[in-house]
This record gives sequence, C-alpha cells and structure tokens, in this order.
Amino acid sequence: MGMETMMETQILYLDPIDPDRKSIEKGAEVLQKGGLVVFPTETVYGLGANGLLKESIKKIYEAKGRPSDNPLILHIADLKMAKKIGKEIPDMFYALAKRFWPGPLTMIVKKGDEVPWEVTAGLDTVAIRMPKNKIAQDLIACADTPVAAPSANLSGKPSPTKGEHVIEDLKGRVDMIIDGGSTEVGLESTVIDLTVTPPQILRPGGITLSEIREVIPDAVYDRIKDTQKPRSPGMKYRHYAPEAELILLPKEAGGKALLDRGQALEKTGKTVGYMVFQEDMALFSEKPFVYDIGRRQQKKEMAARIFDALRVLDQKKVDIILCEEVEEKEVGVAIMNRLRKAASKGIMPLPGERKEI
Ligand code: TXA
Ligand code: MG
Repeated sequence: MGMETMMETQILYLDPIDPDRKSIEKGAEVLQKGGLVVFPTETVYGLGANGLLKESIKKIYEAKGRPSDNPLILHIADLKMAKKIGKEIPDMFYALAKRFWPGPLTMIVKKGDEVPWEVTAGLDTVAIRMPKNKIAQDLIACADTPVAAPSANLSGKPSPTKGEHVIEDLKGRVDMIIDGGSTEVGLESTVIDLTVTPPQILRPGGITLSEIREVIPDAVYDRIKDTQKPRSPGMKYRHYAPEAELILLPKEAGGKALLDRGQALEKTGKTVGYMVFQEDMALFSEKPFVYDIGRRQQKKEMAARIFDALRVLDQKKVDIILCEEVEEKEVGVAIMNRLRKAASKGIMPLPGERKEI
C-alpha cells in the first residue's frame, strides 16, 4: 500500500451480544492513547479514533486514504457526550434520539468548541450518532470519549459489513481490529441535518423518511442541485465502488431478464457476476458467480447483503455485475442510492432530484 509504513495490528474476535470485558478495556486504552481501533456497529464497521484528539483524527484520514475535506461522525454512548460535542441542540434532537437511538441515525447540529476542526473538516456543524451494537457501545463508554469513525473501508471500496472485509482493507494500517461478525443493517446510517429548516436528510439509510416524519413531519430529502456545493461533502465522492462494472437492470425486471442479459454478455466473452433474489436462485444453477441477495419481498435482507455481494463478486474478478433495481420506497431508497453510486464511474448527484416519497 504505497509508502505508508505497515504496523502491527492486533485482531480480536468478540461476541456482539456479550463482549468480553478485558478485550473492550484493551480497545478503549488504545483509543485513549490516540490509536486507531476498528469496531463493528449495527450499520457497517467503523474506523475509530478518539474524537477529541486532533492528532488521532489525522491518522484516520491516512489509514483510509480519505480526503480530509470529508467530515466524520462522532459516536457517543450517552446523551451527556452529545451535550459536550454539540451546541444549541434543538428539542427535536432529543425527540429523534428518544425514538431512534441507539440506532442507525446520525444527526447534525452546531459544533461544540471542544470538537477539533479536523473532525468536521472545517464545518461549524458536527454529526453525532449513538450506535446500537453492544461492542461499539461498550467500547465508547469504556474509552469515555466520543469516538470519531468513518466506515472502515479503504476509500473507494464498498463499506465493510464483515470482519474479513476490514481485515482485508486495514490490517497493517490500524492498531486494533475488533471482529464482531456480520453487521445487522448493512448500509450506513441515515444522516439528517437539524441545523436547517425544515430538517433535511443528506444520506438515506436504515431509518426511512416516513419513520422520521413520525417525529418531524416536515423533514425532507436534501434537494440540492448538481451545480451547488454538496451539503454533505462525502456525497460527492465515488463510494462503494467495485472494480467490476455494475449494470443495473430496470426495477423488478425479474430473474429471467437478469439471466438473459448476462448470457448475452457472456457470449461477447465477458465474465458476469449475478446478484440474485433467493426465489430466482434455481435459474442460475449453471452459473459460477452468483450471490443470493435474500428474499424479493424482504428488502432489508438485500440491504444487509449488497456490500458483501459487491466484494465477493469483485474478488472473483468478474468483468460485469448485474443487479435489478428496486422500488425507491422505505429501505429501497437507501439501497438504490448505494447501487447507483457503485454503478457510476464519476461524481454522483445527491439523492435530491427525486420525487418525494
Ligand atoms: O453508519 C454509519 O454512519 C457509519 C458507522 C461507522 O457509524 N459511518 C459512516 O461514516 O458511514 P462515513 O464517514 O463513511 O460517512 C459519514 C457521512 C459522510 O457522507 C459525511 O460527509 C457526512 O456523513 N457528514 C459528517 N459530518 C457532517 C457534517 N457536519 N455536515 C454534513 N455532512 C456530514
Ligand atoms: Mg463511508
């Protein structure tokens, strides 16, 4: 990996239901001393550092190979920590916290003075999330500091949803990796900006707009135009990108259409990987590169599997990956957001130019 020096990475395997206390203490000590610890959350794995030490924050950007103009989320274990890192926190923050935390929701509020500018990449707002995964919770509480953590993939790779993904990407680049198995949600958190009126969702995720509207009825998706400066700087980069070309078939095209398209491509000499709904798996019994993305009617299963699917098929060195588009409702909004990014070779627009749902 370039010119960076490789370091010794300690790898620990922990039970996400009942994590071993001694191991948590070890991880917390690394964080307190300014080191990097990769840990599971219920969304994707995070690449964590002490969120109040600017020197540790710089290490995150280095390890990930991420541009430092992209701000980080601070992960907290309790609301006391939120008061420390945010300022003029509005009532709706607490209302959303009550409903969705711990969980896959990130809220943006005004930045408190203790938060280094390195965390927010110079913005005067800060993103805050209280994760639900027990390893993450225990680690943050034990370190007794907010933990800054982007998704623990190398920049440009799909977000990691399994321990083996982070070991593949970050072994030798961080002090510790905590492997806690597969993550539950599989897509990154929903990001909502509470500093604007009405509050805007900058990134769709596991918590849907309709769920958020139960608490904030006027919440909307960010409707930024391509030409404007992206509000969430991360949205302008090509993320989640496999090496193979991802081709999306029309919404719910069906297994037969997927197979026909793949076979046509195979005739031209391409190797094709297929992302297939469980019900259609039998159609693909002759095909070597097939990934089961769960039941058609259970899109949460697909959400939890797409990043692994992209990685697994990519490792098979296929030229093309085929997948059906899904309806953009509920978690389908976040799924399509990630699939489109993975399918694009360039800069993607924000999830704005879309009919409200
Ligand atoms: O589920 C998640 O959110 C995972 C886990 C580890 O918690 N984290 C994650 O972090 O996805 P990251 O860094 O890959 O994505 C954070 C997103 C980026 O798009 C970033 O630009 C945006 O949140 N963001 C962070 N702080 C912001 C701020 N102050 N204003 C606007 N956008 C912000
Ligand atoms: Mg990321």
